Amino acid sequence: MIKLLEGTQGIGVVLTETQQAATSVIEAFRGLNANILVQEFVAEAKGADLRCFVIGGKVIAAMKRQGAPGEFRSNLHRGGNAVQVKLSPDERSTAVEAAKAMGLRIAGVDLLRSAHGPVVMEVNSSPGIEGIEKATKLDVARKMIEFLEKNVGGTNRDRIKY
Ligand SMILES: Nc1ncnc2c1ncn2[C@@H]1O[C@H](COP(=O)(O)OP(=O)(O)OP(=O)(O)O)[C@@H](O)[C@H]1O
Ligand SMILES: [Mg+2]
Repeated sequence: MIKLLEGTQGIGVVLTETQQAATSVIEAFRGLNANILVQEFVAEAKGADLRCFVIGGKVIAAMKRQGAPGEFRSNLHRGGNAVQVKLSPDERSTAVEAAKAMGLRIAGVDLLRSAHGPVVMEVNSSPGIEGIEKATKLDVARKMIEFLEKNVGGTNRDRIKY
């Protein structure tokens, strides 16, 4: 699996099935001075990933995104669909630890279900809320605001005179 760091919505993610293909894709990207990431392909994830929405050390919502038939990328922009998912305790703690490791109190952690347990694919510092609210029917925006109200001291409201 070879990824362009500048890529988004699944564009720039290349599954190279042979060593020969991998070598030529790496050479091509290098020739374009692109920044790339080379990863193990988690075939057993079967074109799905888990988006875990972490707020204040807890996963408050999680969805499973499944790619369109025959597609290894689960991106919703590539025709994937998303449903609410129940995480295992291991998946839950992996997501929470990943957010903590990045120093984020609010994060969107993407996991893959690999044969050797959950693996972190990506940690987003400004995760979108539209897709996950639609899939889970949870009011994620409200949970974010409630967290901020509880945890961010000295709001402007204290200073503004009405
Ligand atoms: N190592 C991997 N093994 C199996 N599937 C993968 C792997 N990496 C990515 N995928 C699949 O490809 C999709 C796109 O990959 P990724 O999220 O890394 O790129 P992106 O969506 O283009 O970038 P971003 O999430 O930053 O917008 C993932 O959602 C996942 O379904
Ligand atoms: Mg992605």
